[in-house]
Amino acid sequence: MSPAKPQMNLTAFCFPPGNWRMPGASPTDMDFDEVVHLAQVAERGLFDMLFFQDSAAVPQAFFLPGSTPDIIARASRCVRLEPLTMLAALATVTRRIGLVSTATTTYNDPFNVARKFATIDHISKGRAGWNLVTSQNEDEAQNFGRDSHVDHADRYARAEEFHDVVKGLWDSWEDDAILRDRASGRYIDPAKVHILDHKGPHFSVRGPLNVARSPQGHPIVAQAGSSEPGRALAARTADVVFTAQVELGEARAFYADVKGRMAAHGRTPHELKIMPGIRYVLGATEGEAQERYAQMTEEVSDDAALMTIQRLTGGVDLRQYPLDGPLPALKPSNAAKARQKMMVDLAQRESLSIRQLARRFTFSLGHLVYVGTAMGLADLMEEWFRAGAADGFTMLSPYYPTPLEEFVESVVPELQRRGLFRTQYEGTTLRDHLGLPRPANLLARQRATVGD
Ligand SMILES: Cc1cc2nc3c(=O)[nH]c(=O)nc-3n(C[C@H](O)[C@H](O)[C@H](O)COP(=O)(O)O)c2cc1C
Repeated sequence: MSPAKPQMNLTAFCFPPGNWRMPGASPTDMDFDEVVHLAQVAERGLFDMLFFQDSAAVPQAFFLPGSTPDIIARASRCVRLEPLTMLAALATVTRRIGLVSTATTTYNDPFNVARKFATIDHISKGRAGWNLVTSQNEDEAQNFGRDSHVDHADRYARAEEFHDVVKGLWDSWEDDAILRDRASGRYIDPAKVHILDHKGPHFSVRGPLNVARSPQGHPIVAQAGSSEPGRALAARTADVVFTAQVELGEARAFYADVKGRMAAHGRTPHELKIMPGIRYVLGATEGEAQERYAQMTEEVSDDAALMTIQRLTGGVDLRQYPLDGPLPALKPSNAAKARQKMMVDLAQRESLSIRQLARRFTFSLGHLVYVGTAMGLADLMEEWFRAGAADGFTMLSPYYPTPLEEFVESVVPELQRRGLFRTQYEGTTLRDHLGLPRPANLLARQRATVGD
């Protein structure tokens, strides 16, 4: 039964933690047992999904000019387990929570991506999701045969086509195409298999996929770009949008803008869930939370913090400027345009020096930061949810597992008490949790079958 009042959706954002030195911080970047623990905590908290951010390169601090051995030695986010492999393993030790990971359209091929997520959807019985990104880490280029990153506009043109090929491949087989009829010896129904025969500027893919249609029909597609082409792609294709928004008015405008573009694609606003990120630090009192926050931000050296924002400067070397002076004019970024704008806006809005900006941004990763009590965090989430700025939230824990455990034990019950969050999983698939319908098979009526 669907709840009478609209309820929010929650994502647990999993990223190699920067605050690995905090007492009790567990090595979730490499120790799978710790990842299992984190997944089970999030599932106990009835989260819609776990989301593994990803990049196929070490952090840029390794290769930026001026990066000293000391800076490199502190690059804590440099190793991680390959997330799709991890999702498959997590599917066997969880029951309900959605399992989502990034796969870039810039340095992958659609057939492989379609095949892997369809497989994870089968293994997890309908809990898989693909976060479609165009890659913000420019260093990925040099791991895939290129000297420099593909241009922003070209990345999005490729992403549009990539997405269509993946969804086409997911529709290669109708739901009842596999017969396995022992009596007649017919394994498949040829009338229900469709050849994609895609030929476009970036890809030539015949198909069909060699994985049958998956439990969700299409695994969930999430998107996390906020630039103009990012918004356009999301409005046409995404089920979920992850976004970094730091100001309520701007978050509402973003929400209205992306949802407002959907009608042009024959979609209704409730077919897309927008989930801004919140980086949270909780304490039993405001004072305790502030102390923890100070401890986390002081752990990072100025040099390391500077390297973190250096990737968003479009090549302007910030070390040439006084650390206590203002941010200079930047060049357009080819990595993450929306993220660069957000950083510049923050520096201007709060008149931050380069040093202050670097420290703030290294902790926030560009997201809204909340430091305080569970009650205060529930208030903030309720305000944004009711104000039309969010359908739910992407919760960014500064490390694992303690902050996530605290969230599950204190914020979740408060949201439930207010009728804003589920008290049990009502369905079994990620689509069920998000309240999204199972998509029709678009190829079923349009395409030739193998027998034609
Ligand atoms: C919550 C969130 C998660 C993201 N995860 C990834 C990721 O895992 N890998 C990646 O390359 N980019 C990631 N991004 C960046 C965007 O997907 C996008 O590729 C980048 O911002 C450039 O696009 P834009 O200029 O449209 O924002 C993430 C962004 C957000 C807000």
